[in-house]
Amino acid sequence: MKRSMITVLAVCAAFVLSACGSGSSNKLVMATNAAFPPYEYVEGSEITGIDPEIAKLIADDLGKELVIEDMAFDSIIAAVQSGKADIAMAGMTVTEDRKQNINFSDPYTEAAQVIVVKNDSTVASPDDLKGKTIGVQIGTTGDIYAEDIEEATIERYSKYFEAINALTQGKIDAVIVDREPGKVFVGENADLKMIDEEFTVEEYAIGVAKDNEQLLNDINASLKKLQDSGKIDEIINKYIKAE
Ligand code: ARG
Repeated sequence: MKRSMITVLAVCAAFVLSACGSGSSNKLVMATNAAFPPYEYVEGSEITGIDPEIAKLIADDLGKELVIEDMAFDSIIAAVQSGKADIAMAGMTVTEDRKQNINFSDPYTEAAQVIVVKNDSTVASPDDLKGKTIGVQIGTTGDIYAEDIEEATIERYSKYFEAINALTQGKIDAVIVDREPGKVFVGENADLKMIDEEFTVEEYAIGVAKDNEQLLNDINASLKKLQDSGKIDEIINKYIKAE
């Protein structure tokens, strides 16, 4: 075989390999848990909310088609690690622990953990949770904080809705949840209220596999453009009304 021919074959092989890698796929697969309004939730037959809208703009910018995979919250990081999904976008808080397993983009918004209780509850601050039965969504930062509360019993649910239902039924004393979803749940249940004092301030970002440096850079570049043009704020303000 002539040398020139070998070069051509090598170039073709490299092209085929790269075309198969997720980096150059024409799809951007987003792993989420669509039971977290206003960030992601099911409306009719569609998954909608702040995260799907931002992801759509990023996908458009990268020339990819957005595909959303709804799954258990505690399966999302593994889905990204295994390449089953390209990105984790689920109101996901950046934590040092999670950074051991995936990379995070620049943060796109701020969040907080809050406490939701019944209107007649005596719980008025995080300190009052001592010895109480607390509902959380499995694998969330709320779950992690609950573990630090003295003498507390933790009830872990696969969805926040289930924790909220248990609370209204009096099966548990409080739910630790992110602020905006907490507001939505309180708005839907007249006998629930939110404690003003926030537990922690957090940041949400997009998770990407450790070995997908290119996608991480592309996403950060897209996010910057969308932030600079005011598009991210526009989406967030559409779902979250300022008080
Ligand atoms: N921000 C919290 C965390 O990262 C909760 C996120 C829950 N998200 C969801 N889509 N259910 O742990």
